[in-house]
Amino acid sequence: MDLLVVGDANPDLVLRGDVRPRFGQAEQLLTGADLVLGGSAAITAAGCARLGLETALLTVIGDDAFGGMTRQRLEERGVRIVLPRTATGIPTGLSVILSLQDDDRAILTLPGTIAALRPEDVTDAHLAAVRHVHVASLYLQPRLAAGLADVFARARALGVSTSLDTNWDPTGRWESITEILANTGYFLPNVNELRAVTGEHDLDRAAAHLVRTGTTVVMKNGAAGARAWWPGGDCVAPGHDVNVVDTTGAGDSFNAGFLAGRLAGLPMTGAVGWATAAGSLSTRASGGTGAQATLDDLRVTVG
Ligand SMILES: Nc1ncnc2c1ncn2[C@@H]1O[C@H](COP(=O)(O)OP(=O)(O)OP(=O)(O)O)[C@@H](O)[C@H]1O
Ligand SMILES: [Mg+2]
Repeated sequence: MDLLVVGDANPDLVLRGDVRPRFGQAEQLLTGADLVLGGSAAITAAGCARLGLETALLTVIGDDAFGGMTRQRLEERGVRIVLPRTATGIPTGLSVILSLQDDDRAILTLPGTIAALRPEDVTDAHLAAVRHVHVASLYLQPRLAAGLADVFARARALGVSTSLDTNWDPTGRWESITEILANTGYFLPNVNELRAVTGEHDLDRAAAHLVRTGTTVVMKNGAAGARAWWPGGDCVAPGHDVNVVDTTGAGDSFNAGFLAGRLAGLPMTGAVGWATAAGSLSTRASGGTGAQATLDDLRVTVG
């Protein structure tokens, strides 16, 4: 296996329309609705598999209809599912995403099984079988977060590289992850997450602080593309002009492009170029995985 992705897998119900929900039993009309594979880890894993990487996903899903659908979509994409245990009595997580025409989104998430992963579920045997381990949606998984610094330290001891996409903290608490980041090879936040995690508004200063501890920072910035800082260098990569249908999961597809680039041996600038191309191309369809790029797509887009 090339890589192990660790984290959330669940259906996303993506609703599209020019509406803001109104209470008082008001009925409003949508222009589209899709039930698709969601969860940052699942979307990243599907993106990696599409780019030709042998990809395993360590996740907990429930023994229910949403769990069955999640499993089926992952298998269709060639992702090997590793279930540490069967979750009985816990519903599979679900996100309902209201995607407005002006590109803004509201997301309602039932954590369910998403919060069930524990650090000890990531065994040394899992780590020893891969070249890279990527962890997604940290703040939805407080139990995993509590022991993740140790998981990454074990990975490093086994010669396995590591990456982390915390995504947003819905509690707004942004508990310190300094110890985890000090053990993280690639930190992959968006602009707002980089500021929230570091408590620093100035992006160069926020990144420099992390780079001093040896962590490479690759920051997503929506349509504008991305920036990256690593020990000894930095770069900027533009986003690509595409027909945007839905930006859900663009950051997760970006992660897949970046990891595929690095695991193919590209230098940082090349890998960040693959990342922005993979992110932009993924926005051409509704949901996170509908329009994910192949290696050929990336090469055509990057030129
Ligand atoms: N509107 C857009 N047009 C073109 N490319 C986009 C657009 N939005 C995102 N992208 C591409 O996707 C990448 C990641 O996007 P973004 O900054 O939205 O990540 P994110 O906030 O982590 O997303 P999410 O967590 O919702 O998946 C960008 O670097 C860019 O390449
Ligand atoms: Mg993200």
